[in-house]
Amino acid sequence: MKTLTLPNSKIHSGNLILVNADHRYQNTDHTDLVKITGPDTDIRLERCAAALLSELMYKIQAENQIVPVSGWRSKKEQQTIWNDSIQESGKAFTQKYVAVPGHSEHQTGLAIDLGLKKEKIDFICPDFPYNGICKMFRRLAAYYGFVERYPKGKETITGIGHEPWHFRYVGIPHALIMTKYHLTLEEYIDFIRFYPYQKSPYIYQEQGSSIAVSYLAASEHTETFVEVDTDKPYMLSGNNIDGFIITEWRRAHGA
Ligand code: DAL
Ligand code: ZN
Repeated sequence: MKTLTLPNSKIHSGNLILVNADHRYQNTDHTDLVKITGPDTDIRLERCAAALLSELMYKIQAENQIVPVSGWRSKKEQQTIWNDSIQESGKAFTQKYVAVPGHSEHQTGLAIDLGLKKEKIDFICPDFPYNGICKMFRRLAAYYGFVERYPKGKETITGIGHEPWHFRYVGIPHALIMTKYHLTLEEYIDFIRFYPYQKSPYIYQEQGSSIAVSYLAASEHTETFVEVDTDKPYMLSGNNIDGFIITEWRRAHGA
């Protein structure tokens, strides 16, 4: 076991940060952005998210059928999109489909908008239906760490209209757990609070893996101490609110 010291600023970084109207993006760590694969694209995503998106697209042979429309955005770009949308489509539409600048998941590099390839693709609301190649993408998305972030029926929870095209990378097993229980990220962050670190973690068990997921509240001081078993793989993420989510692989996959 080893004791890690986490500055409380780390609450604001990691794959599981909740960014919405109530929780602005305030990560000051460097985000490792890379260009996603594909012809003529300048779209960037966080490195892991980009790699897994590319793997998934390759797996379903979607490269010529699904087009990445928008990935990482700076706050300034989000502001431009917001202003343009207000001008073109009005305030009600904009509030439904465009996050307030400073509060967009796109600023994290962990969100990607996807569209079915066609001559005209709407930048704000691309067409990404629930059939055909998009259905294949959806079927496998969680295994690659992605979730549909703004589902139908959860608009009051997410604060955003139904967006079939917007996917968020949260990694595994989180995407699989969220999908299994139909949880939005808002709900998942609350769900994990019931599983305190080192007391009673949530155990994800499937296909030979055993992964413990738990919550650790940040200390009231400037640093939080966390004891981890460094002999096994683990991952830490802030929740962007008040603490950390710790993911520990207890048994190697397939072992
Ligand atoms: N369309 C999503 C909500 C955004 O603007 O971040
Ligand atoms: Zn989006």
